[in-house]
Amino acid sequence: MKSAAEIRTFPTPQDLFHAAAEEVIGSATRSVAERGRFTIALSGGSTPKSLYSLIAANASGSLPWAKIYFFFGDERHVPPTDAESNYRMAQETILSKIPVPVANVFPIPAENPDACAAAEAYEQTLQKFFSLKPGEFPRFDLILLGMGPDGHTASLFPETAALKENSRLVVANWVEKLHTHRITLTLPVLNAARTLLFLVSGGDKASVLHEVLEGSAPPDKYPSKLVRPSEGRLIWLVDRAAASELSTVV
Ligand code: 6PG
Repeated sequence: MKSAAEIRTFPTPQDLFHAAAEEVIGSATRSVAERGRFTIALSGGSTPKSLYSLIAANASGSLPWAKIYFFFGDERHVPPTDAESNYRMAQETILSKIPVPVANVFPIPAENPDACAAAEAYEQTLQKFFSLKPGEFPRFDLILLGMGPDGHTASLFPETAALKENSRLVVANWVEKLHTHRITLTLPVLNAARTLLFLVSGGDKASVLHEVLEGSAPPDKYPSKLVRPSEGRLIWLVDRAAASELSTVV
């Protein structure tokens, strides 16, 4: 049974990031209490930087980091030292600032020149960590997502092959307009999550957010529309600027 999306709007980006930090910390606390661990997939790009810094500043001493496991929703096809690397961004904003064991952090091995091999390796990492049988999908406690101005999320870009992937966990997705592979979790993995949390900030996202949440364009042109958890919660945290073209600003 697909639950309706929860859409919460905040006056400023700062309010948005504080609410998102509360959501992440709350999810981590509940997951550890209920299942003994918390598995989170981080999103990349620039929006989450403030969220990660906030969590590092406010929760470094209060969360059971030894029971928290960090994965990545997607990665650019670059080494972890590259300025474009999502791992490097996460390392700089949160992972280097909290006492999480190194063994609890699972970067996508995007330094491999063979993007397909990197995706296969990450898929094996997930299969091992989650003790998956063939055909099973991992159930992350929380997957953080951003949304690009073209409606992409993770590295699921409009009209790219990954949108049609329904059996693999991780793929190397060729993105023609960027002329590069991106390594990304697939939609079945996103949609298996207990909680999916979109973070959208800024007026440049307003028109695409209206299309994704209220428009009727084909979903393969706006891949964020394809994120519909089968049983989990779908939460959109957006600031007022991003929500400015929504018909119902909550
Ligand atoms: C990435 C992200 C990507 C991001 C969107 C939004 O690797 O870039 O995973 O999906 O969330 O592009 O990026 P901004 O938050 O920087 O606008």
